[in-house]
Amino acid sequence: MIYGDRIRFRAPEKEDIAMFVDWLNDPEVRAGLSLFLPMSVAKEEHWFENMLKRPQEEQPMTIEVQDEVGWNPIGNVGLFGFNDISRSAEAGIMIGEKAYWDQGYGTEAMKLLLKHGFETLNLNRISIQVFANNPRAIRCYEKVGFVHEGRSRQAIFTDGVYYDVLWMSVIREEWTSEG
Ligand SMILES: CC(C)(COP(=O)(O)OP(=O)(O)OC[C@H]1O[C@@H](n2cnc3c(N)ncnc32)[C@H](O)[C@@H]1OP(=O)(O)O)[C@@H](O)C(=O)NCCC(=O)NCCS
Repeated sequence: MIYGDRIRFRAPEKEDIAMFVDWLNDPEVRAGLSLFLPMSVAKEEHWFENMLKRPQEEQPMTIEVQDEVGWNPIGNVGLFGFNDISRSAEAGIMIGEKAYWDQGYGTEAMKLLLKHGFETLNLNRISIQVFANNPRAIRCYEKVGFVHEGRSRQAIFTDGVYYDVLWMSVIREEWTSEG
């Protein structure tokens, strides 16, 4: 487990698959992701089996929060696209339980992911791509120190509209564990 103040990261389990499918079929959750078609348990099982074959540092982690009865999963977070020479990777996050949006959990998860990336995996650069029509995610990344570095114009087409894709990154030397 990787522990933050209110959250922890754990490895995803097979038993989580049905929950992931529910999250990925929620149009509001999916709007920020590059997913446009309905997700099935069979497809997600296939994804899960392939995911386990990836190097462990590239496997997503499940975000959990604690309540009176124990730890509850609320989403997934992870790093992918590692470049071993440049010591870089790309981040991704999904809080699938919408009741937990806008309470700082995404910010805390990204903070913990950056700490993990820089202090455990010894990365030098962590980047993220975000759709310009996702102000909640953009704000969340800005709060933990991601810097805007570029924009792919009209790179995503969703609900009949083209949106820009923003590129953001954090470099090890400008990052502090305090966030
Ligand atoms: C994006 C996501 C990770 C953010 O997590 P979260 O826990 O909701 O975010 P936080 O509460 O930590 O921070 C959200 C910030 O955005 C702000 N915000 C929310 N809606 C906003 C809006 N429409 N415009 C501007 N800011 C907004 C919040 O007020 C908060 O900022 P503040 O703390 O300064 O008030 C989460 O909502 C999510 O997983 N969404 C669905 C999947 C997704 O879009 N993933 C990202 C792909 S790049």
